[in-house]
Amino acid sequence: MMTEPQASMIKHSIMVMSGKGGVGKTTVAVNLALGLALYGKKVGILDADITGPNVPLMLNVEEEVMVGEDDGTIRPVEIPVGADGVVRVVSMAFIAGRESPVVWRGPLKIQMLKQFIEKVAWGDLDQLIIDLPPGTSDEPLTIAQILRPEGTVIVTTPQDLALIDARKAIDMARSLGVPVLGIVENMSGFSCPGCGGAIDLFKVGGGMRAADELGVPFLGRIEIDPAICESGDSGRPFILRVRSKNSEAFDGIARKIIALSQSEEGEDRRV
Ligand SMILES: Nc1ncnc2c1ncn2[C@@H]1O[C@H](COP(=O)(O)OP(=O)(O)O)[C@@H](O)[C@H]1O
Ligand SMILES: [Mg+2]
Repeated sequence: MMTEPQASMIKHSIMVMSGKGGVGKTTVAVNLALGLALYGKKVGILDADITGPNVPLMLNVEEEVMVGEDDGTIRPVEIPVGADGVVRVVSMAFIAGRESPVVWRGPLKIQMLKQFIEKVAWGDLDQLIIDLPPGTSDEPLTIAQILRPEGTVIVTTPQDLALIDARKAIDMARSLGVPVLGIVENMSGFSCPGCGGAIDLFKVGGGMRAADELGVPFLGRIEIDPAICESGDSGRPFILRVRSKNSEAFDGIARKIIALSQSEEGEDRRV
């Protein structure tokens, strides 16, 4: 008989959602995880995006193999951050491997994800961050139902259509009873590398307006920044290697999340 993995103490959990793909959800999840770890937090990041598990790529842990011990426990890949922070990574990419995940059928995928998650030995965590699949279809919904996070961060870009999708994501979170912690507006304008002047490629401020209209907090805006894209592709995380307006913006989001967690302290969850 298999023994259950040792219970982990997970103080807080949030999921990162978006109405559609490609808006920077994984980028925000990864930089937020690292941003929290820079404050000495123990952070787990669960890449539950079965269709495109990109977290390992962005953290350069693709080649790492998780040790499944005799009892079947799954050990996250551990990345030390700063003096005493840590990020522990578990990705569906670790089990899907190089096989095309699209061959998995819906219910089977969800079942595998569920079994997989139950076996993870996270250890004690201050915060678990879940990178959900994009959109508001059955898949993110079911995953959110299994994981029951305490809150959600919605990522959007400033275009009108993306904002309509963000609103759908907020509605989905609300229908699940998961509080919306706030909106991040990503790819929000661009600073000219030559003169530093602002260029509003897809307009800016839509996320802030949407947050206002929908009565949810605005957590911050991140510009379109070639260094962010380059960091993602190279697996050298942006927030760890760049000091700029945009890394400060990620830091600001991390600080807001810490403040929110502290205001709810005492509600530790054992999973
Ligand atoms: N603010 C940004 N500036 C430049 N490139 C970005 C920014 N945010 C994300 N990207 C890039 O856009 C692509 C999609 O981002 P990703 O985080 O994978 O989106 P999602 O998880 O929502 O599909 C990636 O190549 C990423 O590096
Ligand atoms: Mg993603």
